[in-house]
This record gives sequence, C-alpha cells and structure tokens, in this order.
Amino acid sequence: MWLPPQRIPFKATSGRIPTREEAEASRLFSPLEAGPLHLTSRTWVPAMVPWRADAEGHVTDAVVDWYARLAEGQPGAIVIEATGIRDLPSGPLLRIGHDRYVDGLRRVTEAIHRHSAGRTRAFVQLIDFLAVKRRPQRATYLERFLRLAERHRVALGMADTDDAAVRSRLATLDDAALQAVLDAREWEALQMGARERVTDVGLAHIRDLPLHLPGLFADAARRAREASFDGVELHYAHAYTMASFLSATNTRADGYGGSVAERARLPLEVYAAVRAAVGTDYVVGCRMLSEECIEGGSGIDDAVFFALKFAQAGMDFLSFSRGGKFDDAKQPKPGDAVYPYTGVSGYECMPSHLSDEQGPFGRNLEPTRALREALRDEGLATPVVAAGGIHNFEQAERVLADGIADIVGSARQSLADPGWWRKLREGRGATVRQCEYKNYCEGLDQKHKEVTCQLWDRVGLDEPGLMRSRDGKRRLVAPKDW
Ligand SMILES: Cc1cc2nc3c(=O)[nH]c(=O)nc-3n(C[C@H](O)[C@H](O)[C@H](O)COP(=O)(O)O)c2cc1C
Ligand code: SF4
Repeated sequence: MWLPPQRIPFKATSGRIPTREEAEASRLFSPLEAGPLHLTSRTWVPAMVPWRADAEGHVTDAVVDWYARLAEGQPGAIVIEATGIRDLPSGPLLRIGHDRYVDGLRRVTEAIHRHSAGRTRAFVQLIDFLAVKRRPQRATYLERFLRLAERHRVALGMADTDDAAVRSRLATLDDAALQAVLDAREWEALQMGARERVTDVGLAHIRDLPLHLPGLFADAARRAREASFDGVELHYAHAYTMASFLSATNTRADGYGGSVAERARLPLEVYAAVRAAVGTDYVVGCRMLSEECIEGGSGIDDAVFFALKFAQAGMDFLSFSRGGKFDDAKQPKPGDAVYPYTGVSGYECMPSHLSDEQGPFGRNLEPTRALREALRDEGLATPVVAAGGIHNFEQAERVLADGIADIVGSARQSLADPGWWRKLREGRGATVRQCEYKNYCEGLDQKHKEVTCQLWDRVGLDEPGLMRSRDGKRRLVAPKDW
C-alpha cells in the first residue's frame, strides 16, 4: 500500500477510559431515533468483507460466526459486508442476487439479533461492480487476449500479414515500442489488467446500466427485508459502479454523466426503486465518499450536492468514507488483480499507522462535519455516520459532542476487538485490545484470504472445535475475553 513519505509512526491509545456510569450517560451510548432508524446506541460497525462466503457467494458457518462475534460487542448497528446484487459468479463474495440466498442471509440476521441480545441492528451493504481482470503475463496477453485490429498492422507495417505473425512481432517489441502500437486501454489491460468503466458506453451492458441497476438493487433490497435485515446500505462509495457514476471522471453523455445533477441521476433512480420495493418503514441509506482523493475526482462540493439530494429524496442515513479508487492504485503483479486501496486514495480510505503530520486518526472528520453542516443548513436531519481511525471513547464522544456526526463507525478497531463497544459501555475499557493500524487485515483482504487480525489470530489455536483458516494456521474469530 502507498504510504505518506513522512512515515511518522502513530500509536492508537485508549484515551481516558470511562466508568460504567459515565459511559451509560454518554452521547455515544445514547439511543438514536430517526424515522425508521432506531439504534440502541450511536456505535456502528461499517462494512468489512471477511472473505468467508463459499465459492457461490452463499453464507457459511464461518460467515455466521464472524457476525455473531461482532454482535457480542452490541454496537448500535453492524453493516454486513459488500454483498453482490447480481446472480453472477463473483468468487467468495457474499451474494444477494437471487431468492436462493435469502435463507442463508437470514442466519446472519438471526445471529446478530440473538448474540447482541437485540441491541444491534443488522444492515447489509448492497454492491454492484464492473469487471476487473487480473494483470496478464505479457506473452499470454499478446498471444491470446489482445484483439488485433487494422491499426496494429498499420503501426507495424504488416498489412496483409496473418495474426500469428503480427502477434509474434508484437512479442519482440520492447515496452516503449509496444506502447506506441497499443492504444491506451490495451496498454492499461497489459499493465494493470483490463477494467471496465461506466463510460464504456460502446459496450451494451455498460450503456444499459441505468436500465438494469434500479431493478437489481430493488430486488436485492426486497430480499434483504425477507432475510430480516433491519435495513440496507447502498454502496455508493469507493471503486464500484455507483461511485463511478457519481465520480467527476464520469463523462457519459446520455444524461447519466457530466454535471453533478446528471451524475447523481442513476444513484437517485436506484434509491427510488429500492424505496418503492421496501416501503417507507424500512431503513435505506447509503455509503458515499466525502472526497474521491484522486486527480480530477469529486471533491467536497460535489459530495455536498449529492448528500443534499440523497437526504431530500428520503434516505435514512448517510455514511461517509473517502478515497479507495482504482484510478491511482498500484500496478499489480502479473496474475493478480488491481486493488483499489494501494494508492493515495487507498491510504485516505484505510490510513495506516505510518502517516504524515495529520496522522491516521480522523482524516475524514472535517469533511464529514462540512457535509453534516450543509445538511443541517438545509433543514435536513438525516443521521450522519463518521468513520476512519476511530478507536477510543474520548475520540468517539468528541465526534458527537462537536456535531461532526450522529453515529460513530469503527471498522478495524471492531475487527481487533469485536467486544470493544460493550467493554466501554460496561466500564471495562481497560481490557480493550487496541488496533495498531498496521493493515495486516487489509493485506489479507487484498489477496481475498479470510480476514483476521494479527493481534489474535494465532492465540489459543488448540481450543477444541475452533474454526480455522483454509491453511489451518489462523483462528477465524477473536478469542472470547469476558
Ligand atoms: C478488511 C476490510 C474490508 C473492508 N470492506 C469494506 C466493504 O465491504 N465496504 C466498505 O464500504 N468498506 C470496507 N472497508 C472499509 C471500512 O469500512 C472503513 O471505511 C475503513 O477501514 C476505515 O475505517 P477504520 O479506520 O475504522 O477501519 C473494509 C476495510 C477492511 C479493513
Ligand atoms: S490486523 Fe488487527 S491490529 Fe492490524 S490494522 Fe487490522 S484490525 Fe488493526
């Protein structure tokens, strides 16, 4: 992953630990009631993909155990991982693209409700994404994947030559000469792996996304309700389809790209379809970016526009993340796929302990404050979720006291210690296992390996009946420590 050149080390600390009485009287552990959104506290576990679904995207016992363990911390809400809305093979990514997924997903909601003693709301993050191919070997790409066109022959001076000869010739070129023959997308496909974009309107399935996505999201949301989720979070953030429609890099000329209003059009149509499918008594919110953190990307002004539109349309919460884009991701090794958290924007999304002067904790708080203020200035009371490097009570309470957000999200700290919210609430904050923000978990995510935390995954491996990672070396849930 990219790191700021300063590489200043930061350490997460517990801050001042509240007594049980103080915690119970705090803003953090006070309930939130806003329309259909009822939270027993303002604590929130944002979506994290733990890579525990089976190859068909079904819920497994390991998925259920993972969420049951998080629920023992009794946060106000857990947003379960990005879950694919299409009925298409997508590796071990959880899916909700067909009714056959509903029963498995219901096991997750039941586990969350039961293990939190009814204190935690279960939401599911609904995601759509476009195709991203692995970076090919140079020889394989030139032999098999590159679609030869007349322009290649012209550039090589090989008119009337058969394909095999053209491909052989291409293979002899050095990188500079090859780059001169290939167009920009072909060169990118070779260097990074081919990646579809929402602007590829020459491809029918991309051109027609606005026709299909509202229905796909709406069906997925209906299934979420059938599976007893308390609500859905539309994934409008990071590197995926809906965020790409919102992006300033979206230049589609069909009314779904260009101006901020046109870029917001499909996300609003998706929301309207989802709302029509689930009704007004069901929680529907979205996760979106405060800033894309890429050159030429959307900034805070764009985000204010989108947030106002989504709130005016009736969304029940807005959760703000930042960055996490493909545009500035590092080149993957041949055979690997590009990962959208490896560049500057990736750092902004999941900052690590080695940082710049600003540090890794709360980098998204000022943009989140600006967004919430813009909402309140327009008389919109939509609850706002903040996240990014939040790891102790003092910090979380300040987010609420300072009017930065209404709900405090904490992903990696909840991974490091799934029970941490409850420990804080019960006056046992001194026993919290503090996240080190060294992003070992993110490294596993990048390789689509079961995500665990380096602080606990080798502890107590001899526990009877313990569920382990595929390689047998790591435990899959944090040890019980109360
Ligand atoms: C292993 C892992 C998986 C993640 N998966 C998702 C995801 O599915 N959807 C999402 O919106 N964010 C995802 N994130 C980002 C987190 O939700 C969160 O925004 C980010 O880690 C910053 O918050 P934190 O500092 O509290 O960890 C993931 C993060 C990690 C570490
Ligand atoms: S592996 Fe554990 S300690 Fe390290 S960043 Fe992830 S959650 Fe935090």
